Amino acid sequence: MAKAFYLTTPIYYVNDAPHIGHAYTTVAGDVLTRWHRARGEEVWFLTGTDEHGEKVLRTAEANNVAPQDWCDRLVEEAWKPVWKDLNIANDDFIRTTQPRHIVRVQKFLQGLMDSGFIYEGKYEGPYCVGCEEFKLESDLIDGNCPIHSKPVENLSETNWFFKLSEFAQPLLDRYRNNPEACQPESARNEVVAFLEGGVQDLSISRSSFSWGIPVPWDQDQVVYVWFDALLNYATAVGLGEDSDGELGEKFKKTWPVSVHLVGKDILRFHAVIWPAMLMAAKLPLPERVFAHGWLLVGGEKMSKSKLTGIAPADITSHFGVDAFRYYFLRAIPFGSDGSFSWEDMAARYTSELANDFGNLASRATAMIEKYCDGVLPERSSDQELEKFLVDTCRKADDAFIKLDFQTGINSIMEFCKRVNGYLTEKEPWSLAKDPSRKKEIDEILYNTAESLRALAILFYPVMPTTSEKLWEMIGGNSLGDISQMKIFDVAQWGQLEPGTKVSKGDALFPRLED
Ligand code: ME8
Ligand code: MG
Repeated sequence: MAKAFYLTTPIYYVNDAPHIGHAYTTVAGDVLTRWHRARGEEVWFLTGTDEHGEKVLRTAEANNVAPQDWCDRLVEEAWKPVWKDLNIANDDFIRTTQPRHIVRVQKFLQGLMDSGFIYEGKYEGPYCVGCEEFKLESDLIDGNCPIHSKPVENLSETNWFFKLSEFAQPLLDRYRNNPEACQPESARNEVVAFLEGGVQDLSISRSSFSWGIPVPWDQDQVVYVWFDALLNYATAVGLGEDSDGELGEKFKKTWPVSVHLVGKDILRFHAVIWPAMLMAAKLPLPERVFAHGWLLVGGEKMSKSKLTGIAPADITSHFGVDAFRYYFLRAIPFGSDGSFSWEDMAARYTSELANDFGNLASRATAMIEKYCDGVLPERSSDQELEKFLVDTCRKADDAFIKLDFQTGINSIMEFCKRVNGYLTEKEPWSLAKDPSRKKEIDEILYNTAESLRALAILFYPVMPTTSEKLWEMIGGNSLGDISQMKIFDVAQWGQLEPGTKVSKGDALFPRLED
């Protein structure tokens, strides 16, 4: 039984609707999992929502709605529809208020209690409800949370503690010996420096409100929201279920996680607390945590709580879903911060998507209609294009599996430009003036159609709907559904069947309205 490529996004707080920062992570996860599917791997892609804790509770109260009703409403009316609109093909959606999650969290916690990793103590210190995080004095800037720029609250509670400090050294060893485990490099350095500074035990329960999972042995306490939330990655695939049953099989097939995709705001939770919890439970650790950068507004992290969020629909209504999926991964090196600008997006839409890619497709299909009666001519080949394509597939694959989306997309775009150059050099429209040169035109157009076949497949993970349209235009359906095409077969030249009907559909990227 081959292990699946298991990718997770954070589970997002349902204190508000998603903005493009959440969409950035989820789209990146969708592109990466589609790429791995196209490599022929089995994939499991999980996303979901984080519904307990004070932040969500206070939002529900402020809206005069019971917390469960608030969560139900936000999940059904805001989160799930946005993922559907953005064409996110997740395999599961976990909500932390689901019974499957709650019972497995309680069982896990009881296991840690029984094995001596939990004790009762008193927590006194700063807490940021925005982050749902116990802070260190040294984290604060003028008494404010550095992420939310708001005063922290002072907590004083008797809680249950997890012996996190016992894991500082094993974690340090892990990140020093295994650079893959935390990426990019800057994120790993940050985690190592944090661990070197020493780690305190962690309060893992709260007693001043009840919106959470009850601590199994103490009904006055609910599980700390991060302890509850992090476990979603394991509860969703059947953590702790009978290993002979169906869920046990699921767990064996997916665990451990291949990539946890997170924003750098929640790196420590994923690279320190979470692996320590798993070490305590003697479970295999995730292969990699990748922390990407922030989308900024006015130099600050775009955020729900600062009301600087832009809804994905504000952008997709203008540029379309696929341009949205393309833009952020193309424009911002994955791991760095970046700012969204309408001007930059419009410029790339026009030059890269409409001119370089869309025009190639419409020029080529229009010429096949005009010079070949809309039927694909005889097979032919071009050594230079073929070689370029072989290199492109290799470069793109190397980049995507390293989560270097920008390089991956650029390498596909380079091929697209090369094909444009090929048409410009060969000038089939000039050859058309001389009937004796019809065979040359056929060759050029077959080679161009083959190149479009490759582009459709290579761009499918990034822009699925556009690729499906292009597939249809070039008669790709006679080879099968585009979702079934494999990256490692792309460079094999001559797959499109001569005689297949080709048609110039609508523009892949229509000219922008002002
Ligand atoms: O932290 N730029 O949820 P959350 C880029 N529930 N990405 C951004 C972003 C921005 N400006 N704003 C948000 C939580 N994100 C917890 C997670 S996981 C067990 C629990 C993305 O709703 C990015 O992925 O605050 C970030 O890490 C995440 O949304 C935080 O979402
Ligand atoms: Mg947040």
